[in-house]
Amino acid sequence: MNHVLCCEQYTKESLEELFVLTDKIIKEPMKYSKKLDGKIIATLFYEPSTRTRLSFEAAILRVGGSIISTENAKIASSVAKGESLKDTIKIVGGYADAIVIRHSDNDSAEIAASVSNVPILNAGAGSGAHPTQSLLDMYTIRNKKGKFDGLKVAISGDLRYGRTQNSLAKLLSLYNDITIYGVSRKSFELPQEYIDYMKKRNVKYIPCSEFSDLPKDIDIIYHTRTQLERMEDKTMDIKELIINKQLLNTFSKDTLIMHPLPRVHEIDEDIDDDSRAIYFEQAHNGMFIRMALLLQAFNKM
Ligand code: NCD
Repeated sequence: MNHVLCCEQYTKESLEELFVLTDKIIKEPMKYSKKLDGKIIATLFYEPSTRTRLSFEAAILRVGGSIISTENAKIASSVAKGESLKDTIKIVGGYADAIVIRHSDNDSAEIAASVSNVPILNAGAGSGAHPTQSLLDMYTIRNKKGKFDGLKVAISGDLRYGRTQNSLAKLLSLYNDITIYGVSRKSFELPQEYIDYMKKRNVKYIPCSEFSDLPKDIDIIYHTRTQLERMEDKTMDIKELIINKQLLNTFSKDTLIMHPLPRVHEIDEDIDDDSRAIYFEQAHNGMFIRMALLLQAFNKM
């Protein structure tokens, strides 16, 4: 079964295959517009989402599939009555030909896949993984930088509760000579398991606490918002790391600013028009990557 569950399932070769398919879809979208004709895909979102859900749903429609959905599955589906995720998946898998799921439990996608008779596409699992986001992030980096080997990338903001930056670090770990800087406040540091993961794969990981600790010619700063909804102590006084024009101008003309979005205030709008701020383009790429993932899920390339 062609599930998309985690970043660990990808290799350099399978990433390139996905990116080449995505290039083709962008070049000739009409060629792919009927590929999933007759397929029904369920979108089950137990956590809020704008980009991931709508880009998945747009992707489904753009490759000819149809959608069934519970917009706020936590409240509006039978879990509110106490149904288990496994039971929900068994039932929905009888109605739909694939299931896109976002859930607050880190192991939700694996649990879903363990009982599913249709492909599961993980659209975010707790603070653990967000593979489709990282695939679109990698696609964006490839298009902008033309390579992965040798890149110096900062992941910044909430490295503890977020799932996008640790997933990205895992995919970057596939390549050679990668340096990752982790910029975060105390209590928001990257969990040790991800540091160990990178170390095992010869990635150099350098933790720091200020953007001024980064080299001026860093290739990418991947910033993230504080995941307040996952924090036990929501009253904690966090002196958030902010990227604004003044800060950006201390970096090179080739330093790209990425963010999975939504941003709250950690990236100032005053850099939106700077060509180095590529987060809107990054989000747009998400729809095309998800079209490609859907085609792969059904072997309809
Ligand atoms: C991210 C997520 O849900 O993890 N959003 C997204 O999918 N683009 C990041 C976030 O919510 O901060």
